Amino acid sequence: MGVIEFDQVSKEFASRGKRTLALSETTLKVEEHQVVCVVGPSGCGKTTLLNLVAGFLAPTHGSVLVDGRQVAAPDASRTVVFQADAVFPWLTVRRNVEYGLRLRGVDRTTREERVDKFLSLVGLDQFGDAFPKELSGGMRKRVDIARAYASGPQVLLLDEPFGALDIFTKESMWLALQAINASEPRTIVFVTHDIEEALFVGDRVIVMTPRPARVHADVTVPFARNRDLDIRGTADFQQLRIDIAHSLREVSYAHA
Ligand SMILES: Nc1ncnc2c1ncn2[C@@H]1O[C@H](COP(=O)(O)OP(=O)(O)OP(=O)(O)O)[C@@H](O)[C@H]1O
Ligand SMILES: [Mg+2]
Repeated sequence: MGVIEFDQVSKEFASRGKRTLALSETTLKVEEHQVVCVVGPSGCGKTTLLNLVAGFLAPTHGSVLVDGRQVAAPDASRTVVFQADAVFPWLTVRRNVEYGLRLRGVDRTTREERVDKFLSLVGLDQFGDAFPKELSGGMRKRVDIARAYASGPQVLLLDEPFGALDIFTKESMWLALQAINASEPRTIVFVTHDIEEALFVGDRVIVMTPRPARVHADVTVPFARNRDLDIRGTADFQQLRIDIAHSLREVSYAHA
């Protein structure tokens, strides 16, 4: 479950008489439970790609399929996490994480078990009764991730979720995401500007061209999951980082 297929997808926006082609004949398949990171020049169409999977947008041409079915509208099987955290300030951490489960009418005992599990996986077991304003930015992001998982989607769409965090907080988020996803695997499309993040988190890194976005490179990350932060110091990791940086520069300069 959670297989995503883009078949020759184009997306054109028309606003105030101006047409913008954001995606052009993009073809891409994401396998069940794969973590695919997407990098590409600013404004190339990465968020558009996520919005198409989420069902917030419809393609102009081609089709976006999840588990063989055309995406027609947003639904609970696909959840988006943005850079700005989306926690409800008037709810406690526990209530925030529980939110989607309540909407789905999940019974109280199951809810409590699920929430305990997710809070523990993101390292917030001591903070269930806290309100978001009492938490740091990184902790609120953990609540966001726990809430996204708890709502039970097949597909998680992450749009630069850690883009605003400092490097140490970011590293701790990578580990939290890794832990939660090891326990409850999902298909993930993770948009980021950070090559190191893409290589640490992803099974695969897609490099997009400048707008209109197409797939420029599709890199398999050869490292087993449950990675250690020190993997970044290995020669293989560094080589891949350099290769992807080159690949990005190639497309950026070619279109400059
Ligand atoms: N609703 C819209 N109406 C008109 N144009 C849009 C709309 N949404 C996006 N665009 C345009 O489509 C292009 C791709 O936008 P998108 O937000 O997908 O890029 P991005 O790769 O996510 O950029 P960034 O790296 O800055 O987040 C941009 O030129 C943008 O201005
Ligand atoms: Mg974007």
